[in-house]
Amino acid sequence: MSNPDGSRADSLHQAARRNLWLHFTRMSSYADADMPVIVRGSGQYVFDDRGKRYLDGLSGLFVTQIGHGRTEVAEAGARQASELAYFPLWSYAHPRAIELAERLAGLSPGDLNRVFFTTSGSEAVESAWKLAKQYFRTIGQPGRYKVLSREIAYHGTSMGALAITGLPSIKEPFEPLPPGGVRVPNTNFYRAPEFVAGDLDAFGRWAADEIERAIVREGPESVAAVFLEPVQNSGGCFPPPPGYFDRVREICDRYGVLLVSDEVICAFGRLGHYFGSERYRYQPDIITFAKGITSGYSPLGGMLVSDRLMEPFAGGPATFLHGVTFAGHPVSAAVALANLDVFEKEDLLGNVRANEAAFSATLSKLSDLPIVGDVRGAGYFYGIELVKDKASRETFNDEESERLLRGYLSPALFEAGLVCRTDDRGDPVIQLAPPLTCTQQHFDEMEQILRGVLTSAWSRI
Ligand SMILES: Cc1ncc(COP(=O)(O)O)c(C=O)c1O
Repeated sequence: MSNPDGSRADSLHQAARRNLWLHFTRMSSYADADMPVIVRGSGQYVFDDRGKRYLDGLSGLFVTQIGHGRTEVAEAGARQASELAYFPLWSYAHPRAIELAERLAGLSPGDLNRVFFTTSGSEAVESAWKLAKQYFRTIGQPGRYKVLSREIAYHGTSMGALAITGLPSIKEPFEPLPPGGVRVPNTNFYRAPEFVAGDLDAFGRWAADEIERAIVREGPESVAAVFLEPVQNSGGCFPPPPGYFDRVREICDRYGVLLVSDEVICAFGRLGHYFGSERYRYQPDIITFAKGITSGYSPLGGMLVSDRLMEPFAGGPATFLHGVTFAGHPVSAAVALANLDVFEKEDLLGNVRANEAAFSATLSKLSDLPIVGDVRGAGYFYGIELVKDKASRETFNDEESERLLRGYLSPALFEAGLVCRTDDRGDPVIQLAPPLTCTQQHFDEMEQILRGVLTSAWSRI
């Protein structure tokens, strides 16, 4: 729709300012400024309403694995909407949900054969906690309700998922949250405690053993599950030290606690495998997923569960008392199947594995800048930690973070044509998670934009 005295873009911006509420966004920033409006995507790039092109260095929000503008995936959704747009998974099944569940069971590690769909990652995490609680109640261990998760880790925003999340700043306005969330240290080796600094193996042993200490302290009979991402996103990509997950698995087994691998970001190729747990060779009891399963062409999430957890619900009257209307939506399930077809046809996992060293090496070139403290990650999933003093690893105070990240870096990177994420919920980091189709030319483009913007950021400190 065009307005009489201006462009369509102007009327869109006015309507956005009047009526739209953005998530996790300080809306006052847009009181006198236009919010970015992204109208179109093609491959690794998106375009705004004024026609400007941006390299999508974050796959939207860790989502668009296959890249933008894939008509075959869009058409699979459209075909499904014509055939059967909607039917619930409450007491009924539909073909695409069955086919997708079968396909995921075939791709997942070990005995994770049962799929419970949701529409999002938060719902997947929420579902996993609820299943853990009801499972233990059903098998005669009703005292187990607590969940361990890591400091600074993000596991979603619904009340249960938020109770598992380890970011105090986004929890505080919603306290009291459901009881039972317990924090353990994360695997940020760059900020390892003095007594294990410089020794990755010792650090990994310590971080895993902290999980055991927390279980013992809380009382093992009260602990239901440990929620861990293969590579922790929030805080800026913390890969697990060698042996960390083996040790965590042993600890969980020792105390009868479930290991939930929250793979909302790390599944579907982000780390070069269908599942992050496959890359690090551990066997979870539950995997939570969302985001990349459809590459964002339609929303979908879920959890993959071991046969063992399903067993108490497989016979007699026991029922998992949980569900949501749009879970496993037929259009989303059709889109997910088409998305996985693209993964196979184009060997996207192979592309990530073949290029991840080049991605890492290209980003690591930025280490010559005085503001870059650490470059870390795995696969197509990297964080760059920014510091005020490289030698001492001193970080920025709140005022500097505000001025640097929010005031300068975020808008400047976008202005320079790169979609990425600046995050100061832990120490300040820039995060990158580009589409899995990216190659050296895209890595170079990211590096060059980051180099220019970080250099001028340094001159403003
Ligand atoms: C590890 C993890 N778990 C859960 C979530 C929540 O997913 P959603 O935003 O789809 O609710 C996220 C979102 O980024 C996530 O990264």
